[in-house]
Amino acid sequence: MEKPKHSRLVSCDEAVTVLQEGGIVGMPTETVYGLAGRIDNAPSIERIFTTKGRPSFDPLIVHVESLSMGKTIAEFGLISETLAAHFWPGPLTMVLPKLKNVSDQITSGLQAVGVRIPNHPVALDLIHRVGVPLAAPSANKFGKTSPSEAQHVLHEFSQDDVPVVDGGPCAVGIESTVLLVNDKSSELVVLRPGYITETALSEFLHEQKIPHHFHKVTNKVLAPGQMKHHYMPAVPLIILERNYISENDLENEINQILRAAPDFVEGVKIIKPAHRVERIANLRLPDDPVLAARALYGSLRNLAESGADAILFVKNEVHQGELWESILERLTKAATGVVR
Ligand code: TXA
Ligand code: MG
Repeated sequence: MEKPKHSRLVSCDEAVTVLQEGGIVGMPTETVYGLAGRIDNAPSIERIFTTKGRPSFDPLIVHVESLSMGKTIAEFGLISETLAAHFWPGPLTMVLPKLKNVSDQITSGLQAVGVRIPNHPVALDLIHRVGVPLAAPSANKFGKTSPSEAQHVLHEFSQDDVPVVDGGPCAVGIESTVLLVNDKSSELVVLRPGYITETALSEFLHEQKIPHHFHKVTNKVLAPGQMKHHYMPAVPLIILERNYISENDLENEINQILRAAPDFVEGVKIIKPAHRVERIANLRLPDDPVLAARALYGSLRNLAESGADAILFVKNEVHQGELWESILERLTKAATGVVR
C-alpha cells in the first residue's frame, strides 16, 4: 500500500509502529505537542530537525517514562533525584550530564542532556511501548507558535508527512521549565521559565533541607536555544505597554514599529506585513495565569487565522507573578515590537 504523503491523525498503535520503524510522530504532552523520535535512531533525529527547520545548534529534550529510564541517559545526583521524585511526571526539564548513549546530534554537541517525564497518558504509553526514550521538541516550525492541540500540529505540518496522535488540548499550555542542575556544586539556573516556578523549586528544596543556589547568569554556550524571538504567529503581534493612547496614535505607532522591524533576528524570520495594518485583533487572555497559559497558543493561532492584519496584546497590572512572567516571556519573544 502506498504511504499517505500528508500529516494525519493516527492511533497510538500506528504511532508505536511508526516510531519503532524510525519515523517521527506528533505526540501530546501536558505542556505542548512534541515532534517525537527515538533517541537510538540517527535518521529519525535528523528528520525532527529537518521537519521543524530547526538549526542543529539547538538541542532536543529527551522524554522518559520513569526515573530509571532517565538514569540510562543522564547522571543524577541529590538535587536532581529529589526534584524528579517530586515534580515528575510534570512540566520540568532538567539539564544533566549526559551518558554516552545520548548522541551529540541530540544535545547539539553539549555534554548535558535535557530530560523529563511528561505527565500525559499518551506520551507515557508511547515511550513505554517503544521501550526507548523519545526526543521531542515542540511540534512547530522553527521560530513559530507552539501547538497546544492536535489540529495545530496538522496545520503546522500540512506540507509534511507527520502522523499525529490526538491526546486532546494540553492542560498546561506552555512549555516546561528548563532547569540546569549542577548536583556537584548545588547550583541551579532556570534556562527557560515555565509552569514550575523558581519559587516552587526553591521552596521545595528548602523544605527538604537541601542546600542550593539559584543563578541568573547564563550564556549562549549553556543555553543555545534562547533566541530573542520565538513562538511567532503568522501575523505580527504587538504588545502595548503604555497606559493611554488614542486609537489613531496606536495604529500609527504599530505601523511605524512594523516598518522599522528587521527581517531576521538571530536567524528567526520576523513577521512583518507587506502593507499598512488596519485590522488589529485584540488577544484577550484570562486574568488567572493557569487559564491564560492554557489559552495562549490556541488564541494566538486563532487570531492569526481570523483575517486580522496584526494582533495586539495590552499588558496591564493584572499580569504579575512568576507564572505571568513565563507567559509574558513567550509573548515578548513572539512579538514583532512593543509600544511603550
Ligand atoms: O514542554 C516542553 O519542554 C516541550 C514538550 C514537547 O516536552 N518541549 C519543548 O522542546 O519545548 P523545545 O525543543 O521546543 O525546547 C527545548 C528547549 C530549547 O530552548 C533548548 O535549547 C533547551 O530546551 N535545551 C534542550 N536541551 C538542552 C541542553 N542539553 N542544554 C541546554 N538547553 C537545552
Ligand atoms: Mg519550541
